[in-house]
Amino acid sequence: MPNHAMPAFNPRLTGLSCFSCGTVHDHRIVQGVCRVCGLPLRVDYDISAGDLPLSKLPPRVASLWRYREVLPIATGEVTLGEGWTPLVPAGDGVWIKDEARNPTGSFKARGMTAAVSAAVALGARAVVAPSAGNAAGALAAYGAAAHLPVTVVMPEDTPRGCIEECRLYGATVHLVPGTIADAGRWLHENGPPDAVDVSTLKEPYRIEGKKTMAYELYEQLGGELPDVIVYPTGGGTGLVGMWKAFGEMRALGWLDDGAPLPRMVSVQAAGCAPVVRGFESGAERTEPWANATTHAYGLRVPSPIGGFLCLRAIRETGGTACAVPESEIGPAVRRVAAATGVDVCPEAGAAWVALEGLRSRGWIRPSDRVVLFNTGTGLKYR
Ligand SMILES: Cc1ncc(COP(=O)(O)O)c(C=O)c1O
Ligand SMILES: [Zn+2]
Repeated sequence: MPNHAMPAFNPRLTGLSCFSCGTVHDHRIVQGVCRVCGLPLRVDYDISAGDLPLSKLPPRVASLWRYREVLPIATGEVTLGEGWTPLVPAGDGVWIKDEARNPTGSFKARGMTAAVSAAVALGARAVVAPSAGNAAGALAAYGAAAHLPVTVVMPEDTPRGCIEECRLYGATVHLVPGTIADAGRWLHENGPPDAVDVSTLKEPYRIEGKKTMAYELYEQLGGELPDVIVYPTGGGTGLVGMWKAFGEMRALGWLDDGAPLPRMVSVQAAGCAPVVRGFESGAERTEPWANATTHAYGLRVPSPIGGFLCLRAIRETGGTACAVPESEIGPAVRRVAAATGVDVCPEAGAAWVALEGLRSRGWIRPSDRVVLFNTGTGLKYR
């Protein structure tokens, strides 16, 4: 017996349209990337002002499913109680959104509750994904909850904690030399042929789960968004998801059309910084990064398919992009943990280094309200 009722799609979901060329795709069958241009698909809803009044939210469930009007699944979702994570005050107008509190200890749970629910609704018999580590653990857990076989492929130097949790949840694990790009290639060539692939931004629904981080910020800050969001960026689902949410919040009447959006800061490691390089060179697209190296494994994504969307999100919000030297990440993790009590991952350590730099340069002003994402627990890396 499955643990969950059969998930059913949200009737407000009107279809999937390509983020780049606009081609519309039918959401009632499994879709990957745009069949015309090969780029990511966006989930569209029929929403307008008043459809999701903030005043109706408080009695709702303390998970990201409190926003189900703007999520792909209306009922029967595969859930482990993800989202609605705390905003921990870190002093000087900074809050840490502590995503380590999610099932499997990272914000990847948000994407996977949505992607696995949609896959089940579409009749999936198995699910697969390449991962830098945390996404694999989350997929393995949600696959277990849905009673679906899971195959994950990770770089062979992925932290042991990430690999072992996948095995614990019963997933089939393959380790390959190289980065997540090599894991994706391996899966393409050797993966089970009839499985639904939930690779970052190569299926439409993970971003839907991730976007709820922005809805939560708005609700937790009393109906306002922060001035600055500092976000460690690999594939970019969180950054792109929150930016998509801002557009939806305008449609819902939560935000005025002309109101400034949080300036989005995309943080990468100096050893793998395709988004930063794209931003600094004024490019519309990111170019693949050769010889990607960093111990902030979630940031080791050399050629993100959604790189062009990260660049749009940064520019449209008046944000910026920062590359952090590898040697500064470990000491920052220890500094933040000791100063705040939050168990931060190396990716968030990198974000903290960027935050300090932006503040000392005056890009972040003393009056700014800043939210920094601790995207996962530090425990799996030890
Ligand atoms: C802890 C952590 N932070 C950040 C990221 C990057 O996330 P995104 O792909 O949403 O940019 C990852 C991805 O693996 C991660 O595991
Ligand atoms: Zn397209």
